[in-house]
Amino acid sequence: MSLAPTNITEPSAVRSQTAQLSIRNVTKVFPGKKDLFSKLTGKARRNFVAIEDINLEIEPNTFVSIIGPSGCGKSTLLNMIAGLSSISGGEILLNGYPITGPGPDRGMVFQNYALMPWMTVEENLRFAVETVNPKMSKKNRDRIIKEHIQLVGLAGAEKKHPHELSGGMRQRVGIARALAINPQILLMDEPFGALDALTRGFLQEEVERIWEQQRKTVIMITHSIEEALLLSDRIIMMTRGPAARIDEILEVPFPRPRKRETIEQHPLYHDLKAEMESHLYRETRAVEEARIQR
Ligand SMILES: Nc1ncnc2c1ncn2[C@@H]1O[C@H](COP(=O)(O)OP(=O)(O)OP(=O)(O)O)[C@@H](O)[C@H]1O
Ligand SMILES: [Mg+2]
Repeated sequence: MSLAPTNITEPSAVRSQTAQLSIRNVTKVFPGKKDLFSKLTGKARRNFVAIEDINLEIEPNTFVSIIGPSGCGKSTLLNMIAGLSSISGGEILLNGYPITGPGPDRGMVFQNYALMPWMTVEENLRFAVETVNPKMSKKNRDRIIKEHIQLVGLAGAEKKHPHELSGGMRQRVGIARALAINPQILLMDEPFGALDALTRGFLQEEVERIWEQQRKTVIMITHSIEEALLLSDRIIMMTRGPAARIDEILEVPFPRPRKRETIEQHPLYHDLKAEMESHLYRETRAVEEARIQR
């Protein structure tokens, strides 16, 4: 492996003084459910340790991607950061304060868009902005909604309902809605996973453009190596589960603003890509082998 050592960092518990988000010794255990077998035998089903002892410090204005084999616990981790899922062990601190539930400081973009189907584009944004800022003047709310619809290139589609939009347009609404509440951190769980390759490519470039403008901290889950390399400052590579951990962290040094064609010319592009491919191949193969042996 020809990567310079500076591009790979071992996950460590070193605590940053400037971190915006600190994930410390975080573990998630899903309790075993009682089923007929456990009722008959009186034995409790075994708990499932999804992720174990995750440590990660995220600095402000960083774009971080999480990549790992399917089922390793990426969404579980993101949901804990979002405050949608409880933390079984350790703690997650935002600006030094423990996360105990969802909050407007974190905006979430879901793979399946999660829009209100009976609301228009504008109403979907309005609902989010009003919920978070109930005292804001109508004039300000209208301005924010308009700005964010324009930001994601949806001007003209304000009065359309989600069923009248393509998948790519729906995801633009999801991104606009998450950004309209002005979160400190944008959380995205496979935001382009449901889109065709071409639309996906366009939206990735849109996200890169928006990120250049706003430089918000972003944590994005993806299965795409190219997507992670285009957008991220750091790529967190998780091991397979159960008890998934962080295996390696890649630093992505490509200058910004980035374009797909130019980053592919960067001397480190192919080494980083190869490193990620071999990680994913190794972990996914181990999952498959474990499945066959069962
Ligand atoms: N509510 C739950 N109860 C029990 N087990 C769960 C629950 N949610 C997730 N799991 C288990 O935790 C593990 C991690 O799931 P998670 O959805 O976080 O994986 P993932 O990495 O996001 O996968 P994918 O890439 O397929 O989206 C899986 O084995 C899953 O079955
Ligand atoms: Mg997931």
